[in-house]
Amino acid sequence: MPEHEKTIELVPVITLDGPGGAGKGTVSLLLAQKLGWHILDSGSLYRLTALKALRQEAEEVSQLIEIAGKLDVDYVPMRDHLTILLEGRDVTDAIREEAVGRRASEFATIAELRQALLQRQRNFARPPGLLADGRDMGTVVFPEAPLKIFLTASPEERAKRRYKQLKQKGIDANLPELVSELEARDKRDSERAAAPLRAADDAVMIDTTDMRIDEVVNQVMQMASRCFGFIEV
Ligand code: C5P
Repeated sequence: MPEHEKTIELVPVITLDGPGGAGKGTVSLLLAQKLGWHILDSGSLYRLTALKALRQEAEEVSQLIEIAGKLDVDYVPMRDHLTILLEGRDVTDAIREEAVGRRASEFATIAELRQALLQRQRNFARPPGLLADGRDMGTVVFPEAPLKIFLTASPEERAKRRYKQLKQKGIDANLPELVSELEARDKRDSERAAAPLRAADDAVMIDTTDMRIDEVVNQVMQMASRCFGFIEV
C-alpha cells in the first residue's frame, strides 16, 4: 500500500475543493476550529512559490521546482484566519495580491511543479484530522479521503465576496474586473491538463450562492458526523 494511503487510514481527512471564492477557506477554518483538526490551504503553497519566484525574478521551471521544494513556511492558526510565515516573515496579505494569484494559477498548470508540492501536501495529514482545501484535494492529493466536498457559487457571487474581502482590507477593487479575472482563472484551472479543477466522482456538491457560511459549515458537520462516527454535531 502506498505511504499516503496508510496515512489516510490512520488520519481522518475531509477534502474541500472548488473554484476561488466558493467559501472553501472560511469553511475550512471554521470546521477546523470546531473539530480541532489541522488545515491544508494548498493554494497558499502555489501562491508562496509565485511570491518567491516574483521576488527572485525566477522564470525557469527548474528554478520554480527548486523554490517549491525548499519553501520554508509556517502556518499559525488565528481566530479568523491563518497567518502564513515565509522564512519567518508574515506574508499573509502579500500572497493574496492579484499579481501573485495570477502567477500562482499560471504555475499551477506545470505538472512538475504540482509533483514537487505533492508529498508536502500529504504530510499535512496528522492526527487528529485534516481539512484539505484546494482544487485537486479529492482527485489527486487525497483520493482515498472518506468525505469529499465540492463547493461552488455563481461567478457574480464569488466576485462580490472577493470584492468585500478586498475592501475590508482597504484594497481598492473593481467588481467587473474581478468577475473577468475570476472567470479567466476558472477557465485556466478547469482546462489545464495537470490535475484540472473538477469534482471527484464521489464528492458531494454544495452550491453556496444563496447560503450563509454557518449553513454550509453545519451541512458539512452533519455529513462528517455520519461519515466519521466519532464526531458529535
Ligand atoms: O485557492 P487559491 O486561490 O489560493 O489558489 C491559488 C491558485 O493556485 C489557484 O488559482 C489555482 O490555480 C492553484 N491551485 C491549484 N491546486 C490547488 C490549490 C490551488 O492548482 N490544490
